[in-house]
Amino acid sequence: MKGFIEKIPKAELHLHIEGTFEPELMFEIAQRNKVRIPYKSIDKLKAAYDFNNLQEFLNIYYTGCNALLKEQDFYDMTMAYLKKAHQQNILHTEIMFDPQTHTRRRIPFKTVITGIQRARKDAKKDFGISTKLIMCFLRHLDEEAAFKTLEEAQPFYNQIDAVGLDSSEIGHPPSNFERVFKKARAEGYLLVAHAGEEGPAEYVWEALNLIKVDRIDHGNHSLEDNRLVQELVTKKMPLTVCPLSNLKLKVVKDISDHPLKKMMQKGLFVTVNSDDPAYFGGYVNENYLAIQQALELTREDIIQLAKNSFEASFLNNTDKKKCISQVEEFVNSYSD
Ligand code: HPA
Ligand code: ZN
Repeated sequence: MKGFIEKIPKAELHLHIEGTFEPELMFEIAQRNKVRIPYKSIDKLKAAYDFNNLQEFLNIYYTGCNALLKEQDFYDMTMAYLKKAHQQNILHTEIMFDPQTHTRRRIPFKTVITGIQRARKDAKKDFGISTKLIMCFLRHLDEEAAFKTLEEAQPFYNQIDAVGLDSSEIGHPPSNFERVFKKARAEGYLLVAHAGEEGPAEYVWEALNLIKVDRIDHGNHSLEDNRLVQELVTKKMPLTVCPLSNLKLKVVKDISDHPLKKMMQKGLFVTVNSDDPAYFGGYVNENYLAIQQALELTREDIIQLAKNSFEASFLNNTDKKKCISQVEEFVNSYSD
């Protein structure tokens, strides 16, 4: 099963580029930028990756971002992820970035997106990997800051496919951002939002009914509301589930308690993703492997998840069909 999981063609739909910033690269970039990291060594930094909740993780994640100053830094971080993604047989990945994490440190929006964009172009040329870009608003900041970010994105409209909502969930419901998402939708962006990771099912309802999302990021707490589950099934609403993230942030107590299999059995349209792989102990293949072993998923389940990853993506229908055919060809020719 390990070889099968590693080799099956797949897409990744929930990935924060700042969450791919590996400690080794962080120290290297901090050194060349003469930025001090509040940890004496790579090992000390890694030892701090022991979180009790989302906020404890976010505090370290935002601190790590302080090393990123130049276009080259964003290029190097993005390129390192895309190389890894290609090695894991990810054909297509939809990358989230948090412009406000950088603009509030006076790093220009242009510096951030230009570095990411150059890596996307090079990776397409060098590895054939296709990408989309999702700009996330930080929900612990206010609506006005989100509007300003949407404005700053305008010159780069052609590089951004969707707008999302991330950061500290509890106390920051999707309803706070209804108006700015309405504007983003009118401008032609696709929409996603983190909901039901730590927050209640009610936040998932708000993401559906007020934000009118095309996809829900996480969505775990939807299971507490049967009517919501039915709505998600009827709408064929994709959920981008992140098993190792849920484990590391204590959304689940143990990986064997993870609801992924239950979600599949209820007919929810789920995908498997890595979220912040540098912090949560694994990229997409490690997520598939951990959840397969813990929940005893079958080969058919893995095939379903891989197909779902393309079906739930923002690729056009022709490209979706091509990728799903690649999954089928792989399955037909695979022998262990
Ligand atoms: N949840 C919310 N915000 C985030 C995450 C997450 O898992 N990762 C990066 N920003
Ligand atoms: Zn996330």
